Amino acid sequence: MQHASSFSADLTAWLAERLAAAFPDHPEAAAAARAVPSAKAGFGDCQYAGAMALARTLRLPPRKIAEAVLDGAALPDFVEKAEVAGAGFVNFFVKDAALASRAGECAADGATAGIPQIGAGKTAIVDYSSPNVAKSMHIGHIRSTVIGGAIVELFRALGYTVVGDNHIGDWGTQFGVIIKGWREFADMEAVERDPVPELERIYKESYARAKADPAWMEACRLETVKLQQGDPENRALWQKFISMSRHTFDEIYDRLGISIETTRGESWYQPQLAAREERLEKSGLAHESRGALVVDLRDFDPAAAEQSRKAVESAREKGDAESEAREDGKWICIVRKEDGGFNYNTTDLATMETRVKEYAPSKIVIVTDDRQIPHFQQLFAISRRIGLAPDSTELVHVAFGTITDENGHPFSTRKGGMPKLKELLDEASSRALAIVREKNPDMPGEEARALAEKIGIGAVKYSDMAMDPATTIKFSWDSVLSLQGNSGPYLQYAYARIRSLLAKYDATYPGEDRHGAPIATADPLERALAMRIVAFGDTVAAAGAKCRPNLLADYLFALAQQYSAFYQALPVLKCDEPSIRASRARLCDAVASVLKRGLALLGIQAPERM
Ligand code: ARG
Repeated sequence: MQHASSFSADLTAWLAERLAAAFPDHPEAAAAARAVPSAKAGFGDCQYAGAMALARTLRLPPRKIAEAVLDGAALPDFVEKAEVAGAGFVNFFVKDAALASRAGECAADGATAGIPQIGAGKTAIVDYSSPNVAKSMHIGHIRSTVIGGAIVELFRALGYTVVGDNHIGDWGTQFGVIIKGWREFADMEAVERDPVPELERIYKESYARAKADPAWMEACRLETVKLQQGDPENRALWQKFISMSRHTFDEIYDRLGISIETTRGESWYQPQLAAREERLEKSGLAHESRGALVVDLRDFDPAAAEQSRKAVESAREKGDAESEAREDGKWICIVRKEDGGFNYNTTDLATMETRVKEYAPSKIVIVTDDRQIPHFQQLFAISRRIGLAPDSTELVHVAFGTITDENGHPFSTRKGGMPKLKELLDEASSRALAIVREKNPDMPGEEARALAEKIGIGAVKYSDMAMDPATTIKFSWDSVLSLQGNSGPYLQYAYARIRSLLAKYDATYPGEDRHGAPIATADPLERALAMRIVAFGDTVAAAGAKCRPNLLADYLFALAQQYSAFYQALPVLKCDEPSIRASRARLCDAVASVLKRGLALLGIQAPERM
């Protein structure tokens, strides 16, 4: 039988039943049931540690609660024994045979076994990548694209129906600036060659002129108004800028192996904005302030009001007028500007409404850098308050740290700026090519280049996902392109090595059936490896639930290290006991399957040969 769950997930369900039976008047006990893989050897394979937290509400010592859970109950069939330990833990010991059979399943079916299907029947929307039109994607955008892409894959593996949505920035006053510049000084040859950098140049130059010259500024404003009123020429130009940009984005997505289901940019929502704003005004949550329509979160959120009062007060005490104004402004969300125009907030409210209505999602996840934390705090609070997002829809902002230069300073556009994404990928690929050539001097050129691209892109993606999304990344070529240690290439290499070991096994022992061999876990290194293998499903569940692909990266690295320890201590090909030899080969196969699937969830390919 295939297991669409893990030991921990099965035990969690079992615990919930037990707690419900033992404490029928306290449904919160069953609701908080949770088994997790034990952290330390000697504490069983899985553990329940919830009794301590329940002691107060149940008015019972934790050990009594733990005993009540086990009292007279039949254990799940895969559990050898369960015991109460320490302050009130329950430790579960898994039967060797059950462990062996589940570890074997991981080898058989591309490691889908054991991933709890917690998303079955549910929809998740992931808003990621979302670059802005007429600007190059720089290495900052890679984080949203790569982290978002991994979250999509994790959700899918957990059974969710996933809608990826590329919320591109394709609307706003910048288009009037570009249109004016385009008419006056576009270099058509440069556009032919590489349109996006030219659009960027046009924008920068036109913007600089607007700042210096009120007449130019007014001309830009008029171009924006004409665009918004549907003037055919301006519309056509705007469409052209979008399609040129999207073409460039697509080249990058192709190389990264990312494909995003939907691209609904900001412009898509514009027709709904007037009605949206009117409803907001009628709801009484928005009010006029200096000609603009604003929502002040402090008006209806006492916690926000208190937090704001403290921050403003302390800034005032320090005599810091600037941060006082900033603290005050943090809570005010402008939904219609002074000039009657709409902005990012208005668009995002409409986006929220459409997504909820159209998909009834159980989760909406938006991946951007951490400068947008206040924006999404406001958006989520307002959406809840005016009923755009029901409680059944979880709203998550995955905010990743920005990328700084090696000294921790923000990249400045003046001093050359951040490396362009394309340059980064090219460099990664060519560094990998040098290594591929060195290791495989006889590999044909085409094949070597294709392999190097997989390794280079894998390295760049992995370096981004190996860290908690929240951390700030200090950019350095060497760390991004690292091919050793906790890196994508290290894991790709571990996979390729196991595949070649298995090929050797098959060639040396053609009569032996490693696919059907029972897995033996007599040696502690075998058992520890099997336990790691079956922890894959729980890891996918945790990484998905927390939107942290790095948890999966950490797991894969630990698995590869556990494998090394096993492989260094115990012979596989040279083992002279055929049944143990076949068992170990099957364990190797399971490790390879999990590595391959795990890397795939991170969007990284695992070549058969390196
Ligand atoms: N275009 C934005 C940026 O580059 C990100 C959009 C994120 N999604 C959203 N619904 N606001 O910063």
